Amino acid sequence: MRIADLPRYELQPEEVKRIDEIIKKYKGKKGALIPILQKIQKDIGFIPVEAQRKVAKMLGIPEKDVYGVSTFYSFFSMIPRGRNNIRACLGTACFVKGGKKIVDRIIKELGIEPGQTTADREYSLQVNRCFGACGLAPIIVINDKLYQKVNPEEVIGIIYSCKK
Ligand code: FES
Repeated sequence: MRIADLPRYELQPEEVKRIDEIIKKYKGKKGALIPILQKIQKDIGFIPVEAQRKVAKMLGIPEKDVYGVSTFYSFFSMIPRGRNNIRACLGTACFVKGGKKIVDRIIKELGIEPGQTTADREYSLQVNRCFGACGLAPIIVINDKLYQKVNPEEVIGIIYSCKK
């Protein structure tokens, strides 16, 4: 994804303040960039482009360097995640055992594609390639809780029952 394709997000005043505090805390320390990005993601929920620009400016490094690090590590997200993060497995074992039907049910119910977040920011959907627990296929993970041998008929009930 190019930086120009990322959604625009206007930082709220309290978020600007928080980002400033985070950068000031790490500025001047060796290898400050990754801890700064981690903390922004933890506190704001994702790393908006506007926040990346601020980090680059305050650290005195090129924006492309911040963007490069943000896109290199999969644990960084540049689009807003929902309060509830659904990760469905489409690795071979899960796919064969009906993982695709599960993903299709979720897409239909929430009206979002993998990689997207619902407009109310309640749910995000991601698709993974194997959680390393293939014997329990098909698998979905919601907010770090793993659900095994999921049936497409029950997946929507699971999603709503674990809503934060
Ligand atoms: S394929 Fe889904 S856990 Fe391995």
